[in-house]
Amino acid sequence: MGLAAGSVAVRAVAVVSVASAPMLESAAHAAADELPVIELNDVRKVYSTGQFHVEALRGVSLSIPQGEYVAIMGPSGSGKSTLMNILGCLDVLTSGRYLLAGEDVSMMDEVDLADVRNRQIGFVFQHFNLLPSLTAMRNVEMPLAYAGVPRERRRQEAQIALERVGLGDRVDHRPGELSGGQQQRAAVARALVGDPALVLADEPTGNLDSSATADVLDLFDELHQQRRTVVLITHEADVAKRANRIIRVSDGAVASDESGADRRIQ
Ligand SMILES: Nc1ncnc2c1ncn2[C@@H]1O[C@H](COP(=O)(O)OP(=O)(O)OP(=O)(O)O)[C@@H](O)[C@H]1O
Ligand SMILES: [Mg+2]
Repeated sequence: MGLAAGSVAVRAVAVVSVASAPMLESAAHAAADELPVIELNDVRKVYSTGQFHVEALRGVSLSIPQGEYVAIMGPSGSGKSTLMNILGCLDVLTSGRYLLAGEDVSMMDEVDLADVRNRQIGFVFQHFNLLPSLTAMRNVEMPLAYAGVPRERRRQEAQIALERVGLGDRVDHRPGELSGGQQQRAAVARALVGDPALVLADEPTGNLDSSATADVLDLFDELHQQRRTVVLITHEADVAKRANRIIRVSDGAVASDESGADRRIQ
C-alpha cells in the first residue's frame, strides 16, 4: 500500500482536465492556498428541544491552515461531534462565522451546504458508511456522480484513488467482501476522489483492530505528507499523537491547542 508520488501527479492532471476552464481552476487553487482552510469565529451551537436549551458550542474560534493534520480530542459530551458536524457542513451554527476555503458557509441553507460538502469535504466515518450493494469502485465513484462527472472519467478517477490506498485488486468487491481495514481504506479513497479541500474523519479507527488501525493511520500520514488538510476526531491518544496539532475541547469550548513538539499526550 502506498500513495506513490507518480499517481498523485496523474491525479492532479486528471483533476485539471475535468475543469472546463483550467486556468480559472488553478487560479482558484492558488488563492485558496493562501487562506486558512478552516476559519471559525466565535461559533456557538445551541440545541433547542422544547424547554431544554443545550449550549453544545460556546464560542469556538479556530484557524486551520492548508496542510495541517489536526486531532480533536475531548471527553464525552464536550461537543466534538457537534463541532465535526459544523466543520463538515452537516449542521448549521446558531451564531458566529465559518469560512471554509475562504467561502462563508455560516448562514447557507441546506441545498447550498450540500453543494459545499460535495465540493470541499471528504468524510471518513467510524462505521465506514459504504453502500453495501455497490462495489468498492461504485462507492468511490459516488461523490463524482453527485458532481456530474461523466461515467468514464469517474471510473478512471475511482481506479486511481483505490490504487492509492492499496485496493487496486479489490475494485469489484462489495463492502461485505472486504475486511474492516480494507473497507476503511475504500472510504478514504472515496474521501479523496473529489480532491476536497478538507478530509474530515470521525473516529476512523474506532472499529478497527490494531493492524488495520496502523494501515489507516499510515494512510493519513501520507495525506499529511502531501499537504492535505486532515481533521480527525478521536478518543485515543495513540491516534492523536500522529497529528501535528491537538485541539482539546471541554464543555463546548477549546481547552487547549498545541502544535508540533509542544503537544502533550497523556
Ligand atoms: N441533537 C441534539 N439535541 C440536543 N442536545 C444535543 C444534541 N446533540 C448533542 N447534544 C448535546 O450537546 C452536547 C455535546 O454533544 P456532542 O455529541 O457534540 O458530544 P461529543 O463530544 O461528541 O461526545 P461523545 O464523545 O460522547 O461522542 C451534549 O451535552 C449533548 O447532550
Ligand atoms: Mg461524539
